[in-house]
Amino acid sequence: METLKGKNVLIAGATGSIGSALAKLMTGSGANVYIAGRNTGKLKTVAATANVPSGRVYEFDITDAASVQRMADEINAQIPSIDILINTTGIGIIKPVEALSPGEFQLSLQTNLTGTFLLVKAFLPKMKEVKRGLIINIPGVLGKVPMAGAAAYSASKYGLVGMMQSIREEVKRTDIRITNLFLGGVDSSFWDTIDLRVQRDKMIRAEEAAKAIWFLCQQPVSGVVSEMVLQPFNHQAI
Ligand SMILES: NC(=O)c1ccc[n+]([C@@H]2O[C@H](COP(=O)([O-])OP(=O)(O)OC[C@H]3O[C@@H](n4cnc5c(N)ncnc54)[C@H](OP(=O)(O)O)[C@@H]3O)[C@@H](O)[C@H]2O)c1
Repeated sequence: METLKGKNVLIAGATGSIGSALAKLMTGSGANVYIAGRNTGKLKTVAATANVPSGRVYEFDITDAASVQRMADEINAQIPSIDILINTTGIGIIKPVEALSPGEFQLSLQTNLTGTFLLVKAFLPKMKEVKRGLIINIPGVLGKVPMAGAAAYSASKYGLVGMMQSIREEVKRTDIRITNLFLGGVDSSFWDTIDLRVQRDKMIRAEEAAKAIWFLCQQPVSGVVSEMVLQPFNHQAI
């Protein structure tokens, strides 16, 4: 296993359920953790519970190119490169197509797809300079299999998979690794605003999803986990 001690790890979306659980695991393993999110109050709480120094806490909006680049410039000025970039941002707008507004469709793409593009684009040049790095995204199983009501969400997540697979081709002469994590339902704040009858008590716990990412980050560098699927035992879609 690769040690996380001293690794520079950025968790974008660290105020979310999976991101905040992951921040704790990462600092507990001795990583130099940088956290980013759009909500200052929540960021402060995560920083305090995960023991992240204030100088490594960034307010950013993944849909705003200037804000993403500003964060990357500030982080990249301090270190040669981020070793592990983990994107746990994301929104889920789940509703039938006739109820889905063009604005909601656009926001899904802007956050889950264009936002990831902006984030990866901002950190990739430094990773290319040092010729190594690990980038983890969470397309979820809805980036691989369809579900009624998921037109906007799946469009963004299938797009994310295609984009990351293409970027993988671009960087294959370097030691930059790309992992797509296909999670099934995770009991998290993601579901708070989704009007769908789901059994949250049967879902994966956010801490367990975070542990899967933590595990991925410690894989030996002789190989790469290009995909991982983790689903609730009683609801296996793949
Ligand atoms: N939960 C599931 O069942 C499930 C299943 C498969 C895949 N996933 C994926 O896993 C990832 C993490 O989800 P989660 O379950 O931890 O959900 P979550 O608790 O809702 O976390 C999502 C995070 O994204 C952040 N975010 C949303 N829009 C943003 C923006 N414009 N700029 C910056 N940050 C933004 C949220 O910030 P705020 O805290 O400010 O809202 C929050 O930190 C997402 O990509 C999601 O699609 C989740």
